[in-house]
Amino acid sequence: MCTLFSCTKVVAMVLNKSSINCLPEYPAPPDGQLSEDMLRDFREQGCLLLTGFVSERDCARLKSRAHELIEKFDPRSVKSVFSAMEQTQLGDRYFEESGGKIRFFFEKDAFDDNGQLRQSKEDSLNKIGHAMHDLDPVFDAFSRTAKLAAAVDSLGYSDPVILQSMYILKPPRIGGEVYCHQDSTFLYTEPETCTGFWFALEDATVDNGCMHFIPGAHTGPLKELHQRGSDGKMGFTTLDHTPWPAGATRPAEAKAGTLVIFDGRAPHMSGPNLSANSRHAYTLHVIDRSSHYPADNWLQRGPDLPLRGFD
Ligand code: FE2
Repeated sequence: MCTLFSCTKVVAMVLNKSSINCLPEYPAPPDGQLSEDMLRDFREQGCLLLTGFVSERDCARLKSRAHELIEKFDPRSVKSVFSAMEQTQLGDRYFEESGGKIRFFFEKDAFDDNGQLRQSKEDSLNKIGHAMHDLDPVFDAFSRTAKLAAAVDSLGYSDPVILQSMYILKPPRIGGEVYCHQDSTFLYTEPETCTGFWFALEDATVDNGCMHFIPGAHTGPLKELHQRGSDGKMGFTTLDHTPWPAGATRPAEAKAGTLVIFDGRAPHMSGPNLSANSRHAYTLHVIDRSSHYPADNWLQRGPDLPLRGFD
């Protein structure tokens, strides 16, 4: 948890805000337009929490649609596992070709020794990805509100496009840990233009594996690149060997409906979910179309599904 010293400045900035988070947090602006104070905090801390950005009804609608998609998914058809810690998805074509698809990825502890699911199908999935925002009308509508477009515009994008979407389930008891990383490692552009937009659809707490950030560390270098090598295999290249400072992460507990905006270089992680409650969230990553998108990034789109902005 925060020390008094480390929290002092942030508490001063977020006066009148009631939260245990030592991260900048504001009530969401009704029109989505970020204020000067919000933008200053975002630039200084690398992340920004906006409570009540999404209504309870819209959170429920997205959860319901995800439930419908999961109901239609036959787990006997594919057993692709996503594990941030063990990188089990490396070399998995079902994963690597999901940039323009709606695909389903299990938790690493989803199956028992006989290959049977230990929990319900929904409580066995790590995530759905990575193009619901372009392929499903409910996700499309959620991803392209005027309010979100205004928030994105506030950040100074000239031609923002939504690169990927993920529905993250962080299921009870088996929700996997995610190591400290920067999203620009995986969604790299030149210059770097990646920003994450993470919507809590259920309350995210320390107990059920909320995100944690290292405030201010986005001003440091990008530490790794995830690229396809000349042999066609994905791998990591270390750019900076300096370890993350010990004990510097701060929890980003978020009530359902909160939007967390974070810089592509903002280091973040989440613990395992050992609780009895799921932690559903929806994430979008935005880049600027004017930046160069390398052909060796893992996520590629074919000409049949070009990237779209917020229109
Ligand atoms: Fe991430």
